[in-house]
Amino acid sequence: MNTDNYMELIFPATSQNEAFARVCAAAFAARLDCTMEDISDIKTAVSEAVTNAVVHAYTHQKGKVILRGEISKNTVTFEIQDFGKGIEDIQQAMQPFYSTGNSEERSGMGFTVMQSFMDRVVVRSQPGHGTTVRLEKTIPVNSMEAAANVALS
Ligand SMILES: Nc1ncnc2c1ncn2[C@@H]1O[C@H](COP(=O)(O)OP(=O)(O)O)[C@@H](O)[C@H]1O
Ligand SMILES: [Mg+2]
Repeated sequence: MNTDNYMELIFPATSQNEAFARVCAAAFAARLDCTMEDISDIKTAVSEAVTNAVVHAYTHQKGKVILRGEISKNTVTFEIQDFGKGIEDIQQAMQPFYSTGNSEERSGMGFTVMQSFMDRVVVRSQPGHGTTVRLEKTIPVNSMEAAANVALS
């Protein structure tokens, strides 16, 4: 079965679009042999990245967020891109508990959560121009189902 696929969504950086983005990401990944846990991990990681675009990237205006998805074999990759203020020191930003946000609302654990739920997290950022977070997860192939798909194709 050839599962290669891609998608791109553009939406304003608003809090109601956090839920929209995570549902789209889950629906996109669902064609792989995902368990409920895989789907939940993907939703959580994408949601953290989109929330960061909403909360940190655009403080004064509602900018644009792009969510890209790509499936290649049994690996799904998402990119969450904003065109906001960017991150000066990515390594520091990715440290557990580091946050420039309001300490009552932000835990500083967003990147740590993304890293624990996905296989690979890569952050690229240019201060003043924006940030792109790349999240990658490989879903083990269910061999019984794969055999059935080959038999049927
Ligand atoms: N898209 C972004 N644009 C600008 N700054 C960001 C972005 N994403 C993360 N950051 C910075 O990285 C820090 C850590 O992010 P995160 O681990 O999600 O924790 P939190 O969101 O709770 O602060 C944020 O406080 C912010 O300073
Ligand atoms: Mg966060």
